[in-house]
Amino acid sequence: MLLDIVKYPDPRLKLICEPVTQITEELKRLADDMLETMYKAPGVGLAAPQVGRSIRMLVMDDASGEDAKNPRVLFNPVLSLSGDDVLSEREGCLSVPMDYRADVVRKSDVHLTAMGIDGEPIDEHLTGFSAIIAQHETDHLDGILFIDRISRLRRSLYDSRLRKWLKRRNRNA
Ligand code: NI
Repeated sequence: MLLDIVKYPDPRLKLICEPVTQITEELKRLADDMLETMYKAPGVGLAAPQVGRSIRMLVMDDASGEDAKNPRVLFNPVLSLSGDDVLSEREGCLSVPMDYRADVVRKSDVHLTAMGIDGEPIDEHLTGFSAIIAQHETDHLDGILFIDRISRLRRSLYDSRLRKWLKRRNRNA
């Protein structure tokens, strides 16, 4: 089932999400729905608060190419960042309107621990694109969007463009 994606500036995107204590059947269905919604968008990651659930859960797929699929579901992910600063070019987010994109400074290496869909422990070292996605999605669980990590100037330019866009859209609605 496709889910509605919560859009900035919805205050639900600012919440610190709660840990998941038990992976229920309902959460497994939610994971399926989140993956379906992410692939349809299309996107490479989606966090629970983006579909209105304030819990520490995300889905991602770092496979490139149309047919390759590598869906991952992570509960209670914890990242430890290391390595170099890297520029994540033209980062975007399904919750950030107008398909706005900007460069974001991220870390090159991520040590990820989490729980998988069947409650199995995950303990991995991520680099490259997967490391970037994991950082972006885990940020969502702490109420942080990529536009919180760009310069004040870029952010205020974006916010004023967005205000005008929303006003125009509401007028036409
Ligand atoms: Ni996002």
